[in-house]
Amino acid sequence: MLLKYLYFSFICVLERVNKTTLIYFAPISLYMKDLSIVIPTYNESETIANTLFQIDEVMKSTDINYEILVVDDNSKDGTQFTVIELTNRYPVRLINRYKNHGLSQSVIEGIKKSNSDIVVVTDADLSHDIKLIPQMYQSINSNNDIVIGSRYTKGGGIVDWPTKRRVISWGATFAARVLFPNITDPVSGFFGIRKNIIDNADLKPRGYKILFEILGKTNWNRVVELPYTFTNRKTGKSKLRTETILDFIRQWINIAGYKKGRAYSEINKIKNFAIVGASGILVNMLILAMLKESGVPLIGASFLAIEISIITNFLLNDHWTFGGEKTNKDFIHRLFSFNSIAFGGMIINMAVLALLSFVGIYYLIGNFIGILAGFLWNFLMNRKITWNN
Ligand code: GDD
Ligand code: MN
Repeated sequence: MLLKYLYFSFICVLERVNKTTLIYFAPISLYMKDLSIVIPTYNESETIANTLFQIDEVMKSTDINYEILVVDDNSKDGTQFTVIELTNRYPVRLINRYKNHGLSQSVIEGIKKSNSDIVVVTDADLSHDIKLIPQMYQSINSNNDIVIGSRYTKGGGIVDWPTKRRVISWGATFAARVLFPNITDPVSGFFGIRKNIIDNADLKPRGYKILFEILGKTNWNRVVELPYTFTNRKTGKSKLRTETILDFIRQWINIAGYKKGRAYSEINKIKNFAIVGASGILVNMLILAMLKESGVPLIGASFLAIEISIITNFLLNDHWTFGGEKTNKDFIHRLFSFNSIAFGGMIINMAVLALLSFVGIYYLIGNFIGILAGFLWNFLMNRKITWNN
């Protein structure tokens, strides 16, 4: 043991001088494994030993040949030393980092330095259901590109989380789902990937949401989600800070604008949907003017103008915005669905206007915000219901 410490301290000094990453080559050999489990850590000395024990218990009951890679950002609490001690007991390697501190950066480094084609990422604090790891491995092995442990799919959940964390998580999940409408938990910290999907990907790892980055920047085809219940950590502290939220906003913009990525086509749909919406205003005005001039009473003329513009909007969206989309609804059902959702959008528009006027906001500004809210509603609901795929 003493020798190990000496060796490690010696390399630490060396590495500090060189400012590179240290990999502690544990007694486990370097040949390829079936599965690598990457665990990013920062000040997890209270949790890491138990986590490795629990993972080993789960993995021992399978015939998957695995390794664990703990990727530590040179913790102040000695996490790295605990891990080195544990190399006697478990097939674990330590990557100790000195540069470019960060959760996402650590995960990517761990994935790249793993000795397997299949990698599962999980936290050190046992918030994730590690019993799913073998199933995640099987899922990738049977040809999926990404498998996500999801809190928000049927059967998943969250326990013991303070309201503030729930709200932040809900906001991030909602924003990320706009870009990946078919994935319920695109910001999960618990996932598996086939390693080769990140080869040559233009990843800019930063912040907490590394899965979101992978979804946005790699060429995946098959993603599946497995439900699990997220439990709050029992010991140690969450490292989430305000900056993490800013990182996420920057990342969202970056992914939304990434032309080669999956999310870009979603952004395009939103853009086209907005253009169609604007065309609807013109149609509405034109029809209203025509009817009114030919003597139709205003209310009736307005009703017809609205209905006709809804129909032209529908036709344009059906052919253009969502033209390439598979859908399980026939034409009449789509039209009916679009129409009902538009009605909901109108109610939302009016409700926001009323609410904002009530709190003293100038009515035209209130209406503008109401239009945006209605627009968002219309897009998301139609995406989910009318042109679902
Ligand atoms: N190497 C490294 N560097 N590890 C870090 C860093 C860092 O800067 N910051 C955090 N970690 C490690 C922690 O030690 C822990 O193992 C894991 O990353 C998650 O950190 P927590 O601080 O426990 O995160 P959380 O519980 O608030 O959030 C988790 O759940 C979210 C919802 O699924 C994370 O997994 C998030 O990525 C996830 O979005
Ligand atoms: Mn945690």
